[in-house]
Amino acid sequence: MKILGIETTCDETAAAIVAHDEAGGASILANEVLSQIAEHAAYGGVVPEIAARAHVEVLDRLIDRALDRAGIGLRDLDGIAVAAGPGLIGGVLIGLVTAKTLALVTRKPLLAVNHLEAHALTARLTDGLAFPYLLLLASGGHTQLVAVKGVGQYVRLGGTIDDAIGEAFDKVAKLLGLGYPGGPEVERMAESGDPERFALPRPMLGRREADFSLSGLKTALRIEAERIAPLAERDVADLCASFQAAITDVVVDRARVALRAFSGVAGHPTALVAAGGVSANGAIRRALAALAGEAGLAFVAPPLQLCGDNGAMIAWAGLERLRLGLTDDLTVPARARWPFAEKPAAAVAV
Ligand code: KG4
Ligand code: ZN
Repeated sequence: MKILGIETTCDETAAAIVAHDEAGGASILANEVLSQIAEHAAYGGVVPEIAARAHVEVLDRLIDRALDRAGIGLRDLDGIAVAAGPGLIGGVLIGLVTAKTLALVTRKPLLAVNHLEAHALTARLTDGLAFPYLLLLASGGHTQLVAVKGVGQYVRLGGTIDDAIGEAFDKVAKLLGLGYPGGPEVERMAESGDPERFALPRPMLGRREADFSLSGLKTALRIEAERIAPLAERDVADLCASFQAAITDVVVDRARVALRAFSGVAGHPTALVAAGGVSANGAIRRALAALAGEAGLAFVAPPLQLCGDNGAMIAWAGLERLRLGLTDDLTVPARARWPFAEKPAAAVAV
């Protein structure tokens, strides 16, 4: 089975081909990603109209390139998968209309994939992981702890009540005059900083629900930065290190609570999994690996090029859906908002 995956929900235009056969498992035949970071950097964030125009300009060439790399033609595909949301609606529409057109002319099945579900299923592409597992999905727009029970079966154990983790990294980077996107910049500065110089709060630590709240942490950092301004490079490094240490403590504590709640909704997990752009962060990865070790679980996080947005995860989620007969017709809508995980029916005992 060979599936084309198209991703245009935010600031990456991506097209990939993923193949699967029962004997050989899954393989990525092509994974083309064009980041628009340069176009948005001057604005310190993604500008939706610029993003949509950039997707239009490059998507057809990117799909051609993916097919070339994989050494196949459109006729060799078994399905066309596309992220139909959630995301910036202009970009989502461009990917979806392209996918619908390709499905129509080639008469191949259309697979409208939820972008978050694609992040959630990536560990099955990379590691062949079995259900159920606990997922920390952390990106620029989303922060959730989810029990992944099966394709289309996701129970939300917690989430953020204000900023997403990636968003907090991005805001802190902006505040400290670092570049966009902020996560990698903050992580780089933190490497030479002292994580104990600033005593930043650890919001929600010890709470029984696996929720996050990060806006207070960001404000505490701003107050410290203003107190010692003007900032020398050393100060910025120490602020980044202190911030990253605080977030890491919060992530581990919240994931520990979710692990305790997991068995009530999904039985025994096969692993603790991290996905989304923030899962590229080395400090967070190491801390989650230690937590998984404590609980006797494997820790699985995608290789760096599959942490951020990419087409391979969309193709894989499409492939999983196709195997279950979950295809879509040409009326399927583009969605700016599209929650993928349900809250548990009853309160989960911890
Ligand atoms: O999944 P993603 O590529 O796009 C979506 O938001 O869907 O995630 C991007 C987010 C940005 O907020 C970025 O700052 C954050 O992931 N990020 C990181 C790191 N690399 C990317 N956050 C912390 N540490 C990193 N190394
Ligand atoms: Zn994403």
